[in-house]
Amino acid sequence: MKSLINKKILLGITGGIAAYKIPFLIRDIIKKGGLVKCILTEAGKEFVTPTALKTLTKQKVYMDEFDIEEGVIPHTTLSKWPDVFVIAPATANTISKLANGIADNLLTLVGLDTRKPVLIVPSMHENMYNNEITQKNLEILKRRGFNILEPEEGELAGGDRGKGRLPEIERIVFEIEKILEKKDFLNKKIVVTAGATREYLDPVRFISNPSTGRMGFSLAREASLRGGNVVLISGKTELKLPYGVDFIEVDSAKDMKTEVFKHFDDLDYLIMAAAVSDFSPSSVVQEKIKKDSFNFTLSLSQTPDILNEVGEKKKNQKLVGFALETENLLENGYRKLKEKNLDMIVINEPTETSGFEVET
Ligand SMILES: Cc1cc2nc3c(=O)[nH]c(=O)nc-3n(C[C@H](O)[C@H](O)[C@H](O)COP(=O)(O)O)c2cc1C
Repeated sequence: MKSLINKKILLGITGGIAAYKIPFLIRDIIKKGGLVKCILTEAGKEFVTPTALKTLTKQKVYMDEFDIEEGVIPHTTLSKWPDVFVIAPATANTISKLANGIADNLLTLVGLDTRKPVLIVPSMHENMYNNEITQKNLEILKRRGFNILEPEEGELAGGDRGKGRLPEIERIVFEIEKILEKKDFLNKKIVVTAGATREYLDPVRFISNPSTGRMGFSLAREASLRGGNVVLISGKTELKLPYGVDFIEVDSAKDMKTEVFKHFDDLDYLIMAAAVSDFSPSSVVQEKIKKDSFNFTLSLSQTPDILNEVGEKKKNQKLVGFALETENLLENGYRKLKEKNLDMIVINEPTETSGFEVET
């Protein structure tokens, strides 16, 4: 999704080993439609080359605060340019300078001068990160309104393990998007259901459908970006979890109903994007059904109609339903909207561009 169209991202790159990963960050921002300019410190040049950055961004790379051309002062111009100033990786050294008002290179000058949102992504050896001086400096920057994305635990350069790794590129992009998004779901609780349920016949076989969960996962991601407290209740899927959401995995329609009702009383929005099975086997065989006993009749019962039940119970909650229809889309959709007491319904049909297993 081109969620960063025409957004201006100023990237400050300092002399941490993780600087070698920043070209991938640039690539992902540009793929999402963003514009990138880079400031590189002297130490940063040891880990990523200006040529690589210049080639990827198709822009000049800014390195020298005294590179004044025709009266254009780099730091005052660059500090006004971006929608967000991202410092990644941010060394202990640069964090310390920013916290203490030291402005002895182009990056720290811009850090002191800019009034735009700033995202700091510290990355260093765990001992340096946990050092009380670094922690105190980060506190100062937080109080100044800078956004800090904490490093991750894992393997560090030099072979040690600990907290200090640069977060995944996807995580940094998510944080940038979050800073730029409107916050219209702040303090709202949003429950999203996703994926397909499984109705087991025996321990190894089940009735299901081809829902991938992508729709619900995308909606949960967007709600989280927009400041919501998001609970994602999903059938089993291979999808990567969106950042910042509480995740609950379920099997059957009955399990999904239980989880939805656990959260129902205090939620603000319920978005039911899951493809919930309408039928389940009337009884589950405890042992695997043998191949030679397969000549039997499968008796099915209706599963709970979760949308119907929440519709009956709703007070101030806003309910959004999804329905897949193969005929009379509008007519059937309108009827379901009324019958189930929903606030909104999304009707789609199984085609090459909508329905199951396609990017909608
Ligand atoms: C191989 C090597 C790797 C380094 N990695 C880091 C690092 O990950 N984080 C960090 O804070 N400093 C790291 N440093 C130290 C910084 O490069 C050093 O403090 C430098 O002065 C930072 O300058 P800058 O903040 O202006 O970019 C590393 C140094 C070396 C030699």
